[in-house]
Amino acid sequence: MTRELLFSRLWEQYTQQNPSVLKVYDSFTSLGEYINNDHIAFRTFNDPRLDISVLEKPFLDAGYEAIGTYIFEEKRLQAKHYEVPEHPEEPKVFISQLILEDFSKELQNTIAALINKKEDLFYKDKELIFKGNPWGLSSFETYNQLRKESEYAAWLYVYGFRANHFTVSINSLKTLDTIEKVNQHLKNHGFTLNDAGGEIKGTREELLQQSSIMAEMIPVTFTEGTFEIPGCYYEFAIRYPDAYGNIYNGFIAKSADKIFESTNFYNK
Ligand code: NI
Repeated sequence: MTRELLFSRLWEQYTQQNPSVLKVYDSFTSLGEYINNDHIAFRTFNDPRLDISVLEKPFLDAGYEAIGTYIFEEKRLQAKHYEVPEHPEEPKVFISQLILEDFSKELQNTIAALINKKEDLFYKDKELIFKGNPWGLSSFETYNQLRKESEYAAWLYVYGFRANHFTVSINSLKTLDTIEKVNQHLKNHGFTLNDAGGEIKGTREELLQQSSIMAEMIPVTFTEGTFEIPGCYYEFAIRYPDAYGNIYNGFIAKSADKIFESTNFYNK
């Protein structure tokens, strides 16, 4: 599958499920901005049936190469990022996985039972990244139980395989050309910024700054009924040149840690 098709399919699913994303997008384009993606991100568990080495396959086939590896200590995550070597301007792909053995036996058993619902062969399908939640209706009680240990696990339990966020490249914007201007623009339009650890994650000196809006609350049908929980979110990134004038293309685990909290449950 071409990179163009991969991204257009993921974008379509993402915007259909999270209508507020299109409102953000339109609020930028109505200013005459043309939006390039900095990166998209996926979440998974470190079970070998569906870990990073499984989810990365369609991207490797489409010309991506693994460039950086990361550890998120507090969230108990490992991650890798991918670029197209001959086209570094194309959006990067970021895939993280939860280190299951760092959590309670209860959580491990819940996730093992979830993954066991599908045969091993199912996870080998190259279409896995488009499949969303393949496990059937989630339990709201289990969602809340998982949240006590890991909001990441709870989100993944409900939503499965899909782009967890797209990220606007602020470098490609003409008017909203600083992260401060982007954040103010978002607030003016009524969107809620993730302010965990501050609205801006990272510093100019670290060569990457990111912000995000909190994931939109969307109605999800659980076995117990329908409840509103956070879906996917939209992220914004600006990159700065290093001492040699090269734009930094990696990620910084320490400053991006709190970005994961954009899908934390919150009360509207
Ligand atoms: Ni991101």
